[in-house]
Amino acid sequence: MSIYEQIGGAGAVDAAVDIFYRKVLVDDRISDFFDTVDMDGQRAKQKAFLTMAFGGPNDYTGKDMREAHKGMNLTEEHFNAVAENLVATLKELNVSEDIINSIVEVCLSVKDDVLNV
Ligand code: HEM
Repeated sequence: MSIYEQIGGAGAVDAAVDIFYRKVLVDDRISDFFDTVDMDGQRAKQKAFLTMAFGGPNDYTGKDMREAHKGMNLTEEHFNAVAENLVATLKELNVSEDIINSIVEVCLSVKDDVLNV
């Protein structure tokens, strides 16, 4: 079963992304990056991206991770803050530790691209 199916499909991804960005926007370490971002669009793109990355339907039409984060000068600390907020979200939604670990693996697989290194 894919991660997408294991967490409960579209409804679970929707809930996770909504809670995740609520956390990101109040996290002083990273919230500034989103000051001028259209958050409805961002949530929609992130839902499509994670759906694809978790092995669900591939309807993602956004930029690749390197292009999407180009010129932002993101650091490992920024990346870890985002990952931390995602893990906290998944715990809140009672996602099991095994699935959370698989999701962390997915995040780590795009880390170099996100950091543009
Ligand atoms: C696993 C890590 C990450 C994933 C999967 C991810 C995913 C995405 C996706 C799907 C987009 C939309 C791309 C598009 O517009 O076509 C995006 C944009 C963006 N990401 Fe990330 N991201 C990650 C890490 C980060 C980090 C660490 C930061 C900053 C702390 C960040 C800040 C942003 C911002 C500000 C945008 C909006 C760019 C814009 O519309 O101008 N992301 N990200």
